[in-house]
Amino acid sequence: MDIIICPSPNDVATKAAEILAEHAGGRMGLATGSTPLLTYKELIRMHEEGLSFAECEAFLLDEYVGLAPSHPQSYAATIRNEFTNHIDIDDARVHSPQGDSGDPHAAARAYEELLASTEVDIQLLGIGADGHIGFNEPGTSLNSRTHAVTLHPQTIADNARFFDSADQVPIHAITQGLGTISRAKRLLLLATGQNKAKAVAEMIEGGLSAFCPASVLQAHQDATVIIDDEAASLLAYADYYRFADANRP
Ligand code: PGA
Repeated sequence: MDIIICPSPNDVATKAAEILAEHAGGRMGLATGSTPLLTYKELIRMHEEGLSFAECEAFLLDEYVGLAPSHPQSYAATIRNEFTNHIDIDDARVHSPQGDSGDPHAAARAYEELLASTEVDIQLLGIGADGHIGFNEPGTSLNSRTHAVTLHPQTIADNARFFDSADQVPIHAITQGLGTISRAKRLLLLATGQNKAKAVAEMIEGGLSAFCPASVLQAHQDATVIIDDEAASLLAYADYYRFADANRP
């Protein structure tokens, strides 16, 4: 795991955008949530300066069950509003699980088949306070494929800020599995803020365990983790990670 500790969330975004820009013409896995927003802003700025995403194919990690892509809180709508509508990617090249299909298990299988037919060059990830990536909650098989899940009440509470009230947050979602995510050639996980420090420490320095889904990055051949000082604050080896980053072989 390549660990990069930055002074601020803005520095995390600058570094992440620099890496993602190398794949602007490739197959990119995108994440929703608050963490990547600064990174998307930076990529939009780079696009305004000439970076083209016209050849890019984008794949979302997850989607709420029951929300149509036109629903403002669907992840399909969110990624368009926050990112892809502001760059030159054709909308038909932005893929996500079909949350409103009526059969979430069939929609999960269809999305898994789509992902199996391609190879994602780089998958962007956030991390939940409980260590989830995508919507893979603690206890998810490390080799899971795209599947329908029941969200943890904490995840529902965390995401209620995007809805008018907590009871509007769907309790089910379709998510790429940990095995699906791990097939991407490169993983790029971002985390900022003190409330992610415990999950980040478990992901990097805890055991490989389904109880910390993000620990699956430990088994990936090309995983980069970019975090700010606050998110790094519980890492026992933080000084070493900074030293290694500053003195690369
Ligand atoms: P956040 O969510 O970026 O909004 O903190 C991350 C996640 O839950 O995966």
